[in-house]
Amino acid sequence: MTVDALTLNALKDVAGVPSHPLIFLILGVVTFTLHMVSVQVMLGAAGLTIWGAFSRDRHWRRLAQSMLLTAKIAVSIAIVLGVAPLLFVQVIYDPFWYVSNVLSAWWVIGFIVILIFGYLLIYVFYGLNHHLATEKTRCPGSMILSLLLLLVVGFIMHVLVQQMLSPDLWMSWYAPAGAIDASGTGLHDYDLFRFAFFVSLSTLVIGAWLIAYRRYVGQRADARELAGYLDWVRTLAVRLSLIGGLVSLLLGLAWLMTLPERHAAAIPVVLSLIAMTAILIMAIAPSLLGKRLESAALGYGVMGLTTLAILLTAVAREALRWNILQGIFGYAPLDYRINMDWYSTGLFFATFLIVGGLTLGYYLGVAWKSGQSAGVYTPSPALDRLGTLSISVLVLWIIHFFAVGFWIWMQ
Ligand code: HEM
Repeated sequence: MTVDALTLNALKDVAGVPSHPLIFLILGVVTFTLHMVSVQVMLGAAGLTIWGAFSRDRHWRRLAQSMLLTAKIAVSIAIVLGVAPLLFVQVIYDPFWYVSNVLSAWWVIGFIVILIFGYLLIYVFYGLNHHLATEKTRCPGSMILSLLLLLVVGFIMHVLVQQMLSPDLWMSWYAPAGAIDASGTGLHDYDLFRFAFFVSLSTLVIGAWLIAYRRYVGQRADARELAGYLDWVRTLAVRLSLIGGLVSLLLGLAWLMTLPERHAAAIPVVLSLIAMTAILIMAIAPSLLGKRLESAALGYGVMGLTTLAILLTAVAREALRWNILQGIFGYAPLDYRINMDWYSTGLFFATFLIVGGLTLGYYLGVAWKSGQSAGVYTPSPALDRLGTLSISVLVLWIIHFFAVGFWIWMQ
């Protein structure tokens, strides 16, 4: 038995969605892009940390020390930015997302445990190696295991996304040969080329990140003493971008060319070509730009443009899902019943822009300035005011949250 379009559409939440489904679709793609970029920085930085931790070269060891700090922060950002696409995907694709989750329920719960261990192990390694640049590496296995566990976490997400796309196979996974298997222990579908494509993009992204890192460190007071190191970082970054980008392109092509026959017609050809071209440009641009990468616009701009390439990849990925679920299975996310809730829609965007903007602005401001100053850093009065403002807005938000809750409860 397969699942038909009528059944799939009937599985939508009868309560409808609180805003136009297009908003959820767009936010899903945008937040997935941010999730991917932080995941790729995290994977790339963790990889460079491990490489440097085994090296005796002083540049590699210095880089490993910096990349350990990057990986440690990027993992938190990747997790936070993973929650956002999780919210959006389960709003408009709920019939698919929940079935996929239930089919692999054991792994969905295990995901959290594996993530906790992966996350903790970075801190174990960090705790043991505060002076990686100058001292012998202690317990490198903790960092390697951490990276492997984080990759397992990503793989679980990949399987959940992949299983969504085959409602025609759900029954054969749930009741193979007619015997129900409700254990939820199976991982039923994966595409190694697709997973490897998203993981390999971390080499391209970390290349762009290193170009920005080089520019940033180059502004510090002690930059002159670091000239040799900074040149070495640029050469490494250019190589990583080129090799990483080309490998990603090959894996991306292999993914699309080996799609199962029943999905092949759903490939968004134009969007895929645009995404591939963007990746190609970002792979070769740093090699062509050479010393011009030292300017502020290009030093930081390359990272911005690489993020744009990932956004275009995310758009093509979404179009593929759309073409499969709508084109082949007749599921129409944009026909979702709308139960418009202006208040919650307004609150969402206000929280995102005002609370998020102020708090993030403050954190980034402090991190940026402190990283470039020598000795103990004291924030400027303007930055101090921004900090006070962001805390005040946060307190107001919490008061408002409980006030609205009580008001509704009293009705
Ligand atoms: C920290 C390690 C993580 C890694 C390496 C990772 C990696 C990935 C990868 C490679 C994908 C793309 C899968 C595909 O399209 O085939 C993905 C998708 C996704 N990830 Fe993560 N992820 C991580 C953590 C998280 C966390 C902690 C969350 C949520 C709390 C999360 C939520 C998601 C969601 C919801 C998607 C799919 C979004 C969609 O299809 O619209 N991820 N992740």
